Amino acid sequence: MLSLLILLLNLTNHAFGENPAIKAILTNKGLQYGSHIGADWMQEKIWSMIIPDISGGVDIGIGTVHYVLDGISVSGCDVPEPSVEFYEGVGLKTGISGFSISMKGNWHTRFGIISDGGSFDLAVFNVDVTSVVQLGSDYSGHISISSENCDARISKASITFHGGASFIFQPFVTLFQDQMTALIEEKICPMVEEHVTDLDQHLAEMQVSFKVNSALVLDIPLTNPPLVESIGLGLDLKGEFYSVQSHTDPPFKAEHFDLPKDDGHMLSLGLSEFTVNSASYGYFSAGLLQAKINDSMIPKTSPFRLNTTSFGPLIPQLPKLFPNMLMELQVYARDVPMFSFQADKVTQEFPGAIKAFAIQPNASRTPLFNLNVDSIYRGMIRISEEKLQGLMKLNNFTLTLASSEVGTFQTAALEKIVKMGVEVSVLAKLNAKLEEGIALPTMHHIHLVNPVLKIQQGFVSIASDLDVKSAERESISEGIYPYQL
Ligand SMILES: *[C@@H]1O[C@H](CO)[C@@H](O)[C@H](O)[C@H]1NC(C)=O
Ligand SMILES: *[C@@H]1O[C@H](CO)[C@@H](O)[C@H](O)[C@H]1NC(C)=O
Ligand SMILES: *[C@@H]1O[C@H](CO)[C@@H](O)[C@H](O)[C@H]1NC(C)=O
Ligand SMILES: *[C@@H]1O[C@H](CO)[C@@H](O)[C@H](O)[C@H]1NC(C)=O
Repeated sequence: MLSLLILLLNLTNHAFGENPAIKAILTNKGLQYGSHIGADWMQEKIWSMIIPDISGGVDIGIGTVHYVLDGISVSGCDVPEPSVEFYEGVGLKTGISGFSISMKGNWHTRFGIISDGGSFDLAVFNVDVTSVVQLGSDYSGHISISSENCDARISKASITFHGGASFIFQPFVTLFQDQMTALIEEKICPMVEEHVTDLDQHLAEMQVSFKVNSALVLDIPLTNPPLVESIGLGLDLKGEFYSVQSHTDPPFKAEHFDLPKDDGHMLSLGLSEFTVNSASYGYFSAGLLQAKINDSMIPKTSPFRLNTTSFGPLIPQLPKLFPNMLMELQVYARDVPMFSFQADKVTQEFPGAIKAFAIQPNASRTPLFNLNVDSIYRGMIRISEEKLQGLMKLNNFTLTLASSEVGTFQTAALEKIVKMGVEVSVLAKLNAKLEEGIALPTMHHIHLVNPVLKIQQGFVSIASDLDVKSAERESISEGIYPYQL
């Protein structure tokens, strides 16, 4: 389950002491699901496991019989569902009891100069294994896992020898059994521990920073060690987007938020305003929030053209100063567009500006005027079929003249036109996209089932069940389950 979670969150830079901007809680329901996947995977693994040769010697009173059991393979197994629980303040406690396995192989004995051999059947019954693993974090913000405690007991083993002069040794089978039971028993915990070490290595190699697109990188190292409570596992992650180019921190900080527990779902995720706004800052600081608009981008059917003639009714002096010239508008964000989350609504403030130019016949641009365009968008988002959907509305729109090379003019009529332009172009396109839905990242074969998205004060929460597609489980659970006999 741990691997699932980390794969999901794909956790470079450590950030102890900062407020986490992304939080995740794995509930008991999620843990049980993970454990169930682990059990399925273990059942499959057991059939293909390589069992080391067992060798030893048994003192039969008149000397020592040296034996080797080799070519051992699994001929049957019965794996009960393991129990897994959160172990408060530590990590996870897992147990499996009543595990049985039968094996077959070849035996070879040497007693003095007498060598013999044949086949055998071995059954090991009622194996109980309990293990406690501790969860923590390493210096670079990865989850770490270590074996805290392990205990293995085999209540019974039975062995039958076939072939050779096996009847000679059959009477000493009890001795063999006891010795082999002890041998197998003492091998279980080192195997568990080795497996935990492998898993820890695997976790330490996982990315905690990754490229989202050509402009942004997302950093999600842990900001604190995992918090293990009796009812769940909480992870605090940095959750900051950076511009690939500048990699600078925004001039605002992540605020504290409490992600509510939702025991009805396997996983809860909380995404703060900071995460979204750091992305916004990343785009802004990289100079990506700007565009040039010219007449060829205005729909052919529009009677309003982007030229000084069309602007005549709005700015009477313009066509007199620059008769019938095409214009160019440079539209950009004056400052970082900020998102805020309140109960059930998303608000975005966009401090925009427009620089208007006349395009001279020699193609040089003559500056005309600068406008400040401040808009506030409000809307809602929801999650549906692993897509983010929503609807945004233009809530407030103000246009003011910031400076002018062509003298002052009234902006009321211009405001109406620009507002309409925003509504029919930018907003219409955005809403078309939001209606169609924006696919959530594929999250390594882990699918969200019945996700519930809620916009809360300062953050968005998503509570969801998970489904790991069975064909994809192999890769996920590789290295996840600590018991490999
Ligand atoms: C208008 O912009 C487009 C795209 O940026 C460009 O290809 C075109 O040449 C521009 N037209 C004028 C008249 O500047
Ligand atoms: C400017 O727009 C007017 C319509 O308002 C159009 O008749 C005229 O041809 C345009 N001029 C240029 C240079 O595109
Ligand atoms: C282009 O034309 C304008 C206006 O006629 C003039 O002021 C400017 O110097 C010219 N620029 C170039 C590069 O020729
Ligand atoms: C919304 O627009 C009105 C003018 O229409 C303005 O007075 C008001 O301050 C604006 N509200 C915000 C929050 O910017």
